[in-house]
Amino acid sequence: MTDPLRLGIAGLGTVGVGVVKIVQQKADLLAARSGRPVTISAVSARTKSKNRDVDISGYAWEDDPVALATRDDVDVFVELVGGDEGPAKDATEAAIAAGKDVVTANKAMLAHHGQALASAAEAAGRVIRFEAAVAGGIPVIKALTEGLAGNEISRVMGVMNGTCNYILTRMQSAGLSYDEVFEEANQLGYLEADPNLDVGGIDAGHKLALLSSIAFGTEVDFDGVALEGIGQVTIEDINQAAELGFRIKLLGVARMTGRGLEQRMTPCLVPENSPLGQLEGGTNMVVLDGDAVGQIVLRGAGAGEGPTASAVMADVLDIA
Ligand code: NDP
Ligand code: HSE
Repeated sequence: MTDPLRLGIAGLGTVGVGVVKIVQQKADLLAARSGRPVTISAVSARTKSKNRDVDISGYAWEDDPVALATRDDVDVFVELVGGDEGPAKDATEAAIAAGKDVVTANKAMLAHHGQALASAAEAAGRVIRFEAAVAGGIPVIKALTEGLAGNEISRVMGVMNGTCNYILTRMQSAGLSYDEVFEEANQLGYLEADPNLDVGGIDAGHKLALLSSIAFGTEVDFDGVALEGIGQVTIEDINQAAELGFRIKLLGVARMTGRGLEQRMTPCLVPENSPLGQLEGGTNMVVLDGDAVGQIVLRGAGAGEGPTASAVMADVLDIA
C-alpha cells in the first residue's frame, strides 16, 4: 500500500468533529476505497482545552491555522473554520502557496473569493474541492461535474438552506414559536456562526452562486443573486399559504437567459403536494435540468455533522 494521505484539519466544530470521527471509525474502509491510508497529522481550533466529543490527543495541535496549513506532514489542508475572510482565507491561501491540496466546506469564502482561490490552486498545480459547501450531504457538485458532464444545464433550482427549511416547516407542523424552532436548529448543528447568514438568505445565495458557476461555466457571481431572506415571513403567511394548498420555501433559481445569467434566492409559494412542497426539516433539494438527461432531483440532509462530513470525505477520497 502507498504512503498515507495526511490531513491537517482546521476547525473542530460541528463539521470538523464529524470528519475526525469518520477518519477514526472508518480507517479500513477509507484505505480500501482509496488505496492508501487516510490519516490526520495535525488539527487547529480556537480553544485547545474545549471538550470535543472525539479524541484528538494523537494529533499535533496548532493554534494558528496558517501554521497548520503549511506543515511538512500535511498533504491536504481541510478548512472547516468558516468565514469569508480571516483565518479561513489566510490559511487556504497559505496552503495553496505551500503546495497543498485543499478541501473546504466554506461557501462564504468561496462565494467571495472562489475565483481567485481556484486560479491560485490551478497555477500551483493543486486542487481546491468543496462538495460540502453546497447542500451539505447531497453530492450535487459531483453530479454536475461528473454525472451530468455531457449535458447543457438550462436551470438549477432548489432549497439549499436547512435552517430556513427547518424553521418554515417546524413552525407550521409542530405549532412551535420561531425561538423554539431556532433553538432546535441550533442543537442539530445547522446554524452558521452568524445565523443572519441563514435567515437572511445569504448562505443559500452563496450556494446558488457556486452551483450556477459550475452549471453554466461562468465566474462565481454572488452579487448577481437577487436575495431575500425569511425574516419577513410570518406564521400567518405560512398558515394562509397552507389554506390555499401551498408551502412557503426559500427557493433558489438560476437560469441562463437571453440577458445572461439570472439568479434569485427568495421565499416562494410551491404546491404542497409537489416534491419541494413536501420537503421537511433540514432537508435540501436540488433540481437540475439538463438537455440530454432531462430533470434530475437530488434530496438529502443539507446540514449537520454526519452529512457534511460525508461530503468532505468524498473530496478527501478523490484526492487520495
Ligand atoms: P462551528 O462554528 O461549529 O466550528 C468552527 C470551528 O472553527 C470551531 O472548532 C472553532 O474553534 C474554529 N475556529 C473559529 N475561529 C478560529 C480561529 N480564528 N482559528 C482557529 N480555529 C477557529 O462551524 P461548523 O463546523 O458548523 O462549520 C464549519 C464550516 O462548514 C463553515 O464554513 C460552514 O459554513 C460550513 N458548513 C457547515 C455545515 C453545518 O451543517 N454545520 C454544513 C455545510 C457547510 P473552537 O471550537 O475552539 O471555538
Ligand atoms: N447553515 C447551513 C444550513 C449549513 O442551515 O443549511 C449547511 O450549509
